[in-house]
Amino acid sequence: MYTKVKNYNELFIKLRPDFPMIWATLEVIQPNKIVEYGAGSGRILPLYIQTNAYEIVGLDIEISMVNSFIEYGNDTNRITAYCQDVCEYAPILKDADIVIMTSSVMKHIEPKLRERAWNAISNSLGENTIIFIDHCTYIYDQNESTKWQNYYDTLKFWWAEEDRSKLKNYIWKKNVNRKEDILYIKDLKTEEEMCFRTFVYDIDEMIEDIKKENLQYIQISDTFTLAYSKPYTKRFIALLAHKNFDTKRLSSIKENILKLL
Ligand SMILES: C[S@@+](CC[C@H](N)C(=O)[O-])C[C@H]1O[C@@H](n2cnc3c(N)ncnc32)[C@H](O)[C@@H]1O
Repeated sequence: MYTKVKNYNELFIKLRPDFPMIWATLEVIQPNKIVEYGAGSGRILPLYIQTNAYEIVGLDIEISMVNSFIEYGNDTNRITAYCQDVCEYAPILKDADIVIMTSSVMKHIEPKLRERAWNAISNSLGENTIIFIDHCTYIYDQNESTKWQNYYDTLKFWWAEEDRSKLKNYIWKKNVNRKEDILYIKDLKTEEEMCFRTFVYDIDEMIEDIKKENLQYIQISDTFTLAYSKPYTKRFIALLAHKNFDTKRLSSIKENILKLL
């Protein structure tokens, strides 16, 4: 699905709406070991590298993404990446201080495999590990199929001013049905097309799935910082933890994150 990493990176590597929230979370947790699930090509690596973490691990199902993560990191002492399906047990999570699951990564899992994926995450999770999750029911908050639209005309507010000009080269459309939420992206210069098949995964349904696994959760916010909140997109930005994690500590981590924003 993410085989055209070069095109993907040109468009997405500088996408940063979630950076303030993830930065604040890393600041509060001060992790020694960071793991990212569905890490992609390492878009968030610039934040990880700024921390004092001695180990930064990216896990992704696509080998092209894993390679790109390592290459983008260019800090081989601390950075590793592995091909790993989120639906399988991942013992590597046991001693992580923080696991990042951003950009609605669970939307990539087929509905029939979700239970298995949550079960694998829950079984792999250390008692002292925090998961930071950011999830949205629909890509770009569009719950209906759309025609082709230009990124610059519709979504430039997600990118920093200096990165916006390249957006004029890309158009996108969606095909949404009851189960699927498929995004098509076309590079106008090369006519190359990328297609990302995701599944509609309602926030409330996700919360139910998290509860079934006996994971604790605390929502931090339902939107990114104000600068990025137009159009308003309801998100589930939350911390998850093992059932034995100190609940008071979880609340205090949330409060400290909010103080930094
Ligand atoms: C939208 S990208 C997000 C990448 C990165 N987390 C970011 O925020 O930029 C989703 C990533 O999840 C990966 N992915 C999809 N299904 C997966 C699975 N079952 N296990 C692990 N990774 C998966 C994809 O290959 C892709 O790189």
